Amino acid sequence: MPIYHRLGEVPKKRHTQFRKPDGSLYKEHLFGVRGFSGPQSLLYRHNAPTAVKKIELLGAEAKPRLLGKDAAFRHRHFVMGKAQPKGDPISGRRYVLANDDITIGISLPEKAMDYFFCNANRDEVIFVHQGSGSFDSMFGRLPYMPGDYIVVPKGTIYQINPDFAGTTRFLHIETPNNIELPARYRNEVGQLLEHSPYCARDFRLPNELITHDEQGDFIVQIKTTDKTMEYHLANHPFDVVGWDGYLYPYIFNIGDFEPITGRLHMPPPVHQTFAAQGFVICSFVPRLFDYHPQAIAVPYNHSNVESDEVLYYVSGDFMSRKGISQASITMHPGGLPHGPQPGAVEASLGATKTDELAVMVDTFRPLHVVAEAEEFDDPEYPYSWVK
Ligand SMILES: [Fe+2]
Repeated sequence: MPIYHRLGEVPKKRHTQFRKPDGSLYKEHLFGVRGFSGPQSLLYRHNAPTAVKKIELLGAEAKPRLLGKDAAFRHRHFVMGKAQPKGDPISGRRYVLANDDITIGISLPEKAMDYFFCNANRDEVIFVHQGSGSFDSMFGRLPYMPGDYIVVPKGTIYQINPDFAGTTRFLHIETPNNIELPARYRNEVGQLLEHSPYCARDFRLPNELITHDEQGDFIVQIKTTDKTMEYHLANHPFDVVGWDGYLYPYIFNIGDFEPITGRLHMPPPVHQTFAAQGFVICSFVPRLFDYHPQAIAVPYNHSNVESDEVLYYVSGDFMSRKGISQASITMHPGGLPHGPQPGAVEASLGATKTDELAVMVDTFRPLHVVAEAEEFDDPEYPYSWVK
């Protein structure tokens, strides 16, 4: 996140003696990516984060089983609205699509986490479709609500605590690369430019520390590329009294995305919200339609030849798609044309606005279908462009 942030107590100079009221030293902890060359933060802890009492292999189920060359090459519609609540915000994840750059899935947790979690090799974006609660981490508390994108740097130890007042539904995006704000929105010091669809004030950063100076046996599930380990830490992972830097979880709400509209149809890059090597994440939000008197509001047919296009439908009326419901995921693979379904263009003429809300992910390498997602597949979808 290209914004410097400081929370709690930190010493005047880095790497100097910083003492507790009893005279003992706090433990300094540098948390950074790309060696010592990327964004980083300095945390100050009551106790050492390195004290491990026991390590166990929890399972090798973390890597989704992918359908390979035998899977049909066709447009896909996964009716994820049919999924039933399952597990907690980690164990309840169902993956749908994946390649080496990204894994996309959903969860509908029905119980709380009684452990902590760390995605050791993957940045995460957790999109909150339904529900509210708090995202707690070593950087502090981030209350969340519907429409929030929670962006989590790899290596962050966290716990998601839904309030379970109603359905909790998340869209999960995980990547071994880095989730960033698009470079074209930023100037040479990282500041968001006037033409970007959001500004620094729209981002919610941790503003309340959670500090537990406790010893015991604290379980952290650590997920790597192909397995999940269970670490038993001797010190509470949330024992931070202060930190500062540029690397930390943060939230951006899709409702704060200011749509860029025009007289004629604007292409998907105007909706871009996040960038990463291998894919982009875009937000389709309620907006005024194109205002040329002869404008056609819905998209033209297009062949997105070198990218697979994934849409997650949040709410509203998706006027260019029939048979789609909330929480549906469609995937239009690169190389095949797609566009408005029969009658959609005519129905759109004269419309002045849309209330659609959707998250789009465009990947630059082909996606594979995760085998377990096949039960949600709508086999009729590829034929939905025939009258
Ligand atoms: Fe498209």
